[in-house]
Amino acid sequence: MNIVIVTPEVTPFSKTGGLADVCGALGKELVKLGHRVKTFSPFYKCVKDEKFEAVDTGNRVEIHLGGKTFLAEIWRSGDHYFIGEESFFFRDAFYGDGEKDYKDNALRFTFFSKATLETLITFGEKVDIVHCHDWQTGLIPYYLKKEYKVNKVLRNAASVFTIHNLAYQGLFPRSIMETIDLPASLFNHHQLEFYDELSFIKGGLVFADILTTVSKKYSLEIQEAYMGCGLESVLQKRKGDLFGIINGVDYDDWNPETDKLIPATYSARDLRGKRRCKRSLKKYFKLSGHADLPVIGMVSRLDSQKGFEIIEAAENGLMKLPLQFVFLGSGSKKIQAYLEDLADRYPDKVALHIGYSEALAHLIEAGSDLYLMPSRYEPCGLNHFYSLKYGTIPIVRATGGLDDAIINYSSSRKSGNGFKFRAFSSSSLVKTIKRAIDLYSNDKESWEKLQKSVMLEDRSWEKSIKKYDKLYRKVIEKHPISKKCDQRD
Ligand code: ADP
Ligand code: GLC
Repeated sequence: MNIVIVTPEVTPFSKTGGLADVCGALGKELVKLGHRVKTFSPFYKCVKDEKFEAVDTGNRVEIHLGGKTFLAEIWRSGDHYFIGEESFFFRDAFYGDGEKDYKDNALRFTFFSKATLETLITFGEKVDIVHCHDWQTGLIPYYLKKEYKVNKVLRNAASVFTIHNLAYQGLFPRSIMETIDLPASLFNHHQLEFYDELSFIKGGLVFADILTTVSKKYSLEIQEAYMGCGLESVLQKRKGDLFGIINGVDYDDWNPETDKLIPATYSARDLRGKRRCKRSLKKYFKLSGHADLPVIGMVSRLDSQKGFEIIEAAENGLMKLPLQFVFLGSGSKKIQAYLEDLADRYPDKVALHIGYSEALAHLIEAGSDLYLMPSRYEPCGLNHFYSLKYGTIPIVRATGGLDDAIINYSSSRKSGNGFKFRAFSSSSLVKTIKRAIDLYSNDKESWEKLQKSVMLEDRSWEKSIKKYDKLYRKVIEKHPISKKCDQRD
């Protein structure tokens, strides 16, 4: 199949979260299955880094929007194509300045979406699947169904839209429709209108041939009011086309046996390297105290999604326990201020690095004993998978992909692969952390057994990629336009 992945971020070129890891791995895995894959993302400043060897293809496409003409430069590195327009994408961040989104995001990502489709047309090679990710690409399924439905290159293309996070919807004032040339007739609640605003994500949810999301549990949760972010009825209507496929891990990047970013490698057969990683972690973060004190790590966007609220509410209980925390993250200034204050008040217990660091993320995964994800909601999550591989036992709240993947440890049966709690509350959090450190401190033998068994779990892409492959075939078969056009050809 000729598959096109369209995403606002992709590893190794651009990343703010798991979406980038997933799109990077998806492309690689589909190629392994024998498909031809092109991945499109914006040409951000960071992509220009020499190490990526991106070259200007010399191709240019003109995009007309709201009476203005914009020129897209097409850059390339291997199977990756980048849509360039300096005034749109050469900024300090991808989406906004941390507190506020960029004002012209609707225009930026409409431009990106249109330029991607126009570039495919200039290539002239028929496309089978256009796989779009998150709201930034939400208009593409609409364009394919309406504006490009008779285009020779694109008319066969079935669209797949993956929801990585339903809370981010791309909502804009109605007036923006003129600036991006969307017909006013689309502004109704069956199509792109959402409580009197224009919704990009609805473009994907309404017009894509198939919808997917990143875990089975989240695919069910988002059909309910408590997690549907106001879109639950749209999703219920499409439940026959909505599939939950759990993310995998790219073990080329996340494997303690080969990881170049950690001070010592290790495996389930020999955990000595992990102990060295813990020493380096504590040294880096200037955490003194006995080597045997459990260290709990967390690498995360600082966002209310990730459950910092219950950490704050649990502070008194947590700070009494014999443990240490290491946090790495960036995002909300309010959460940052809280964590900085916590680290100031408990310098022997809490260490913190504000910022984004691939190397520290690996060191924390390898050097911690436990890994905390108390998320309010979590479509899939990736760090609990990395943690399993690194023998770092996850403590998670039972939501989305965390609930699907983690089985609560039972000390009587000595089974499970982590510690899990259901209520989003400080008391559940404290209780669960107590259970975890109790096993860690008082039953070394069971602890090591647990570590070794979780390290052997296979969370690679192998199974999930086959599910995408099957879905692509199914949607191509069903695609009504492609059948009609093929008969005409
Ligand atoms: P989300 O996409 O909601 O942020 P995921 O768990 O799917 O959550 O993925 C987060 C990814 O981003 C992981 O690969 C994690 O290691 C990485 N990450 C998050 N914050 C940082 C940071 N400050 N530094 C380095 N990596 C980070
Ligand atoms: C989103 C979700 C996260 C998921 C990631 C990749 O950012 O918040 O749970 O793992 O996308 O699918």
